[in-house]
Amino acid sequence: MLCIRAFRGGCRGREVPHPLPKVMKKLLTGSWDNESPKIKRENASWSGSQQVLDKNNSNVASEDYIMESDENLSHEKHGPVWAWNEWDPLEEVIVGNVNGATVPPFTVEVKANTYAKHWEFFRKHGGTSFPEGYLKKANAEIEEFCNILKHEGVEVKRPDNMDFSQVYQTPDFESCGMYAAMPRDILLVIGDEIIEAPMAWRSRFFEYRAYRSLIKEYFKGGAMWTTAPKPQMADELYDQVYPIRSVEDRHRLAANGQFVTTEFEPCFDAADFMRAGRDVFVQRSQVTNYMGIEWMRRHLEKKGIRLHTLSFKDPNPMHIDATFNIIGPGMVLSNPDRPCHQIEMFKNAGWDVIHPPNPLISDDHPLWMSSKWLSMNVLMLDPKRVIVQSTETSIRKLFESLGIECIPVNILHANSLGGGFHCWTCDIRRNGELESYL
Ligand code: ARG
Repeated sequence: MLCIRAFRGGCRGREVPHPLPKVMKKLLTGSWDNESPKIKRENASWSGSQQVLDKNNSNVASEDYIMESDENLSHEKHGPVWAWNEWDPLEEVIVGNVNGATVPPFTVEVKANTYAKHWEFFRKHGGTSFPEGYLKKANAEIEEFCNILKHEGVEVKRPDNMDFSQVYQTPDFESCGMYAAMPRDILLVIGDEIIEAPMAWRSRFFEYRAYRSLIKEYFKGGAMWTTAPKPQMADELYDQVYPIRSVEDRHRLAANGQFVTTEFEPCFDAADFMRAGRDVFVQRSQVTNYMGIEWMRRHLEKKGIRLHTLSFKDPNPMHIDATFNIIGPGMVLSNPDRPCHQIEMFKNAGWDVIHPPNPLISDDHPLWMSSKWLSMNVLMLDPKRVIVQSTETSIRKLFESLGIECIPVNILHANSLGGGFHCWTCDIRRNGELESYL
């Protein structure tokens, strides 16, 4: 009887049995499709004990396990931090935290990035907690999301709890914080390096602090750790009279390449970057300026990575992952409402450019900080498995038709805080090597 037990990232000794990561199955069986338990995920909760199965899919007692070498896991080869793209088999991930989530003060940069129908919400609640009822539901959803990730064999880490309502003052400005819900916004892993983005919102200036316990551990384990230059976030970084009043204004300003951030100093959010091995893509957005892009270009060039600036027909560019989400080698979800001006580059390289269907989320569900296109903000567990919003049945069908297995999870209330699965996570380790796809 072939019995297998996998241990978390290189630990030895008496450990909690960990479900066999798909990547090891692939390595052992040579196939992604050699599915283990066919469990109906739809309404199930994974909070209970995890199963370990033998090759006949029957449960085996723990005494029967033989220990498998961890050599095939990238931790053993590359250390704790290692990811070159958005789809290699996921081994470890940071999932954001709901705790302490605070509505950002309604400043000019927040106004430029949010929709007019929510401005009253920001005026009223800026500096105080997001509505408690929503946070409670969001928290339950995210806990369940973490359980599902663990069940799928992914190691899950969480940021520290912080009091984001605390007001801070620097020589240049005063603000309170926002949250540690979206690790994707602030952290970017490229190879063995973890980069802390400088950010562009004053309410996010100190957000990195929630991740420092984790980052110090990764550093001790051998990871490279970089913080991009901290911006001053002085008044000069923002166009104080950014003339946004309506959707028409948005379109006109975006078409003219006019953004709320100036070129006073470099700024960027990590979520404006999308990785595909030797090629990384970025957009000039409301939070990522050209100086920020140039800083990253020079930085990544040293690692042999080419940074390409893309642009989209988007009235409100902020974070590329609900606009242009690369889901596999030569495969990208391209938002049909926001055509990419450089799409020929991808087509010429033989990429599949896939237009996802319209989101199904209802108009009266509050999305305070994003559009509905969070439906395409999916997280790949490997090239053949995707975490997708359970209620988004159209995009689920699309994935199934592409031969990608959907793992449906519901985070509708967590969406209200401004992100989908890709935003709510930051992949720390994916098993794969640096390759060229373009
Ligand atoms: N600005 C995007 C939209 O409204 C949402 C992107 C969210 N991504 C993120 N990493 N927070 O479509």
